[in-house]
Amino acid sequence: EKDGHDWFMRKEIFEQPRAVADSLLGRRTAEGLLQLDEVRLSDDELRDIDKIIIIACGTSFYAGMVAKYAIEHWCRIPVEVELASEFRYRDPILTRETLVVAISQSGETADTLQAIRHARVQKSKVLAICNTNGSTIPRESDAVIYTHAGPEIGVASTKGFLTQLVACYLLALYLAQVKGTRYGDEINEWMDHLEAMPAHIEKVLESAEEIYELARSHKETKSVLFLGRHAGYPVALEGALKLKELAYIHAEGFAAGELKHGPIALIAEGLPVLCVVPPRGRDQLHEKMISGIQEVRARGAHTICLAEEGDEKILPYADKLITLPKVPVLLQPLVAAVPLQLFACELATAMGNDVDQPRNLAKSVTVE
Ligand code: M6R
Repeated sequence: EKDGHDWFMRKEIFEQPRAVADSLLGRRTAEGLLQLDEVRLSDDELRDIDKIIIIACGTSFYAGMVAKYAIEHWCRIPVEVELASEFRYRDPILTRETLVVAISQSGETADTLQAIRHARVQKSKVLAICNTNGSTIPRESDAVIYTHAGPEIGVASTKGFLTQLVACYLLALYLAQVKGTRYGDEINEWMDHLEAMPAHIEKVLESAEEIYELARSHKETKSVLFLGRHAGYPVALEGALKLKELAYIHAEGFAAGELKHGPIALIAEGLPVLCVVPPRGRDQLHEKMISGIQEVRARGAHTICLAEEGDEKILPYADKLITLPKVPVLLQPLVAAVPLQLFACELATAMGNDVDQPRNLAKSVTVE
C-alpha cells in the first residue's frame, strides 16, 4: 500500500508528478480554450466579480497566498487571503460581487466550513478547491474545482498542496480568459509551462538522496529559518510548517525583505537558514534576495539555498546549494516546495518520529 516506501508521506511526495499531471488533465478544449467543468458560475457572474477572498488553513492557506500573486497579476482583481479561523470574526465586507474561494484538501475542515457558511449568508458566491469528492465544503459551495491528487493519507499535506497550487493557477487563468485580461496565446503559454511541471518535479525528486543526507546532518538542530520572496514567501512558510509538524523543532518562515525589520536579530553562528531564491528575471527580486542572504551569512548563518540551475550569482553565498529547474517565478512553488517536503520527512524519520501520524495532529480538523 505504501509502494515500498516507509511512510505514506514519502509515497505521496513521489506521486506528485502524476498528481500534478492529473490535475491538469482535460482542461484545454480543441480550440485552445481553458475549460473548468466544475465551475458552475456563468461567465457573466464571473465578470461581475470585483473582489476575491481566499480562505483556508495551514498548508492550504499557503496555496492561497500563491493564488493571490497569480490572480492579481493575471486578472487584476484584488485578492485577500485570510485564515479561515479569523475570517468571520472580523466582520468581513462581503457582497454579491465577492467571490470567496475556500481551499481545503479534506473538504471537512471546520474553520473553513464555518467561514463559507458565513459568506453564503452574506450572499457571496463560494468556490471550493478541494481534493475529496463529495465532502462537505464542496457540497455547500456554488462551484468547485477538484484537485486530482488521489487520497492523501499522511497528516502532512504534500501532493494535496501541489495540486491545490495547480487548481489556483487554473482558476486564475480561467478568470483571465473570461474577463479578457490576458490574450488566449498568453494563457496557452502558461498552460504549456504548467504541463511541463510534472517533468520538472520528477527532476527535483531525482535529487532526493542529496536532500536526505542534508536532512540527516541536521539531526541536532534546534531551530531553522526559511526565507523567501514573492511566490517563494509562502513556500518558506510551508517549509517551516512541515518541519514544525513533523520534526517538532522550531522553524519560522520570513519574507526576506522583513529581515532587517527584526528577524535578523535571530541569526547566530551556525543557524541553518533555508533560502528559496527567486529565478533571475527583469524584476529586482533575485538581487534583493541575494543581498538578504549575504546579510544573514555575514552574521554566521549556514545558508542552504534553493536556486534555479545556472544561477551563478548565488554560489558565493550558498553553504549548500540545491538546484531547481528553470521555471517562471509564479510557478516556482511547484518545484521549490518539494525539497522542503523531502527535508522534513527525512529529518523527522532520522529523529525517530512517526511521520504519518505526528503527535497532537489529525488529518482533518473537524473542530473549530
Ligand atoms: O484539509 P485542509 O486542507 O482543509 O486542511 C488544512 C490544514 O489543517 C492542513 O493543511 C494542515 O496544515 C496540514 N497538516 C499541513 O501539512
